[in-house]
Amino acid sequence: MGIETSCDETAAAVVADGRRTLASVVASQVALHRKFAGVVPEVASRAHLERILPVVEEVLREAQVRPRDLEAIAVTVRPGLIGSLLVGVSFAKTLALLWGKPLLAVDHLQAHIEACFFSHPFLSPPLVALVVSGGHTSLYLLRERTEPVLLGATTDDAAGEAFDKVASILGLGYPGGPAIEQAARGADPRAIPFPRTLLGEDSLDFSFSGIKTAVLYFCFGQNASALDRKSLSAEAEAQVAAGFQEAVVDVLVEKCRRALAQTGLSRLAVSGGVAANSRLRQRLVETADREPWTVAIPPKELCTDNAVMVAALGYELLRRGEVATLEVVASAEADR
Ligand code: KG4
Ligand code: ZN
Repeated sequence: MGIETSCDETAAAVVADGRRTLASVVASQVALHRKFAGVVPEVASRAHLERILPVVEEVLREAQVRPRDLEAIAVTVRPGLIGSLLVGVSFAKTLALLWGKPLLAVDHLQAHIEACFFSHPFLSPPLVALVVSGGHTSLYLLRERTEPVLLGATTDDAAGEAFDKVASILGLGYPGGPAIEQAARGADPRAIPFPRTLLGEDSLDFSFSGIKTAVLYFCFGQNASALDRKSLSAEAEAQVAAGFQEAVVDVLVEKCRRALAQTGLSRLAVSGGVAANSRLRQRLVETADREPWTVAIPPKELCTDNAVMVAALGYELLRRGEVATLEVVASAEADR
């Protein structure tokens, strides 16, 4: 069983043999955070506390397994909101102790990558992985399945964070990714040429804060803030959404292309919440058709936060004998 509480989804899943999902439950807190246009850590921790027991009970019921049937308990221990992580980690430790099961300490970013192996059973290292989410935009080299080496990361906002902030500028609501995707539908993505920040010629790092400011200035002029938003026509709003989305997608695709060229590898794996974006998925597949590499992207529900990826990585850790002790601690920071 996997347990995930690193941000604003309380999730549990039961996976068999590291391959099959027996049940997956995701209790989203979107409704609670919407009025703040972002995740409020204190609100998130309290909601996890209320939901964790019902979510675990529900997943066991749906999977039709008893606690004694479980082989181990996997839980996300880092990175994330510390108050949120502590709820899942304390709960998982309690279950491991109570039921006498091994505890597996899962890194959330590695779990996102593991979702690619889970959905594409024939995928194998070496490969380049892009994790593109609300908190991270990072490229990794994987020579070993569970040992990602960082190639590049964002120097400011994560891509998902930029989606959320631009959606907030446009008044499209929270979470911003799906709202931008929806608003952009049917609009010309090249009508407004927002900047593509590629940093140095060989750089594998990312920067998304400039494009966010460019959207703000484009919409409301140099001296405006998102607070004194004027209303845009529906057509202009759609073009801004489409232009922004296209610029972010261009950057993400170009950085993947660079990483593959620089490492000489021929396999790319992409996951994290932003990998649920249809335009990004389409552009990655089209690019892979032209380039000498292939791309693996999990189905959308395995890209956004879920516990299947946690259980799947847990299975891999168990197979390798990498069992945690009850002393394991939650950590807000990524360790790579
Ligand atoms: O992986 P995830 O669920 O949580 C983190 O680990 O951060 O990613 C959440 C992020 C949010 O910023 C959300 O706006 C973005 O993923 N996202 C999307 C889409 N669905 C979720 N961004 C663009 N297009 C989408 N369809
Ligand atoms: Zn995530």
